[in-house]
Amino acid sequence: MKTSIHLAALAALLPSTIAQTTNTDACSPLKLVYSRATGEPGLTSPTAGYGAAGYALLTNLTALVPGASGHALDYPAGFLPTSSNIGTTALLTYLSSASTRCPSQRYALGGHSQGGNVTYHAIPRIPAEILSKIVAVTMFGSPKCQPQVVGRCNSYCYVGDFACDGPGGGKFGNGGTESLNLRVKREEMEMAVNCEKLLALKPQGEKSRFASGFGGAHMSYAADGVYVQAAACYIKQQFEKSKAAGAR
Ligand SMILES: *[C@@H]1O[C@H](CO)[C@@H](O)[C@H](O)[C@H]1NC(C)=O
Ligand SMILES: *[C@@H]1O[C@H](CO)[C@@H](O)[C@H](O)[C@H]1NC(C)=O
Repeated sequence: MKTSIHLAALAALLPSTIAQTTNTDACSPLKLVYSRATGEPGLTSPTAGYGAAGYALLTNLTALVPGASGHALDYPAGFLPTSSNIGTTALLTYLSSASTRCPSQRYALGGHSQGGNVTYHAIPRIPAEILSKIVAVTMFGSPKCQPQVVGRCNSYCYVGDFACDGPGGGKFGNGGTESLNLRVKREEMEMAVNCEKLLALKPQGEKSRFASGFGGAHMSYAADGVYVQAAACYIKQQFEKSKAAGAR
């Protein structure tokens, strides 16, 4: 039809920021809504707008929770001071429209670095009715958990991550070294995702093996993988808890 051809042509010309207002991804039992870190590539990249850690989190989560799906927040993730606010508004808009379209959908929110900031600043502004549908929040290299989501939030922080290993970050305090116990756990985890062991890790204070490259510890969440896998296990656990509570 003529009209639909015109619409398709128009959509192809519009910048991707317009696409976020449609928010048409399919309903699912659990939706991971994730915001990427500063400078990570957008929706058409191989990591589909999730960023490296976010994309690994999504694939780990969908392997653990069949039927779960994701939404990469469409926001600039840029260096301008306005970027984070644009993200927070986009997140609130998305949650409001998705919650209307998909009334029984549950959410896991998350982000890395600036994406964690976006999530952190949105949480106090999420209406209670939608907040009750958020089963888990997982952040990497980000601020600490907001009081509104205590008991369903982990803010993962590697030792030496400049963004969170200090006052105001996910972790308060200073570094440390990887204990033998943690190293053994990590070696076991590399064989297979073992949620029992991963959930026993503290969300703050693990040492990344990849801390020396670009961005140091702050950019090694995907390459190291320990906290990514732990986050996927945590979201699964929280989702199952919420289903059990709903069934009572
Ligand atoms: C996160 O927000 C804090 C203030 O809330 C700011 O100091 C910091 O630069 C932000 N970090 C990123 C990566 O956006
Ligand atoms: C889980 O995340 C790790 C770490 O980023 C990644 O190496 C691995 O491929 C992911 N596993 C799955 C099943 O997606």
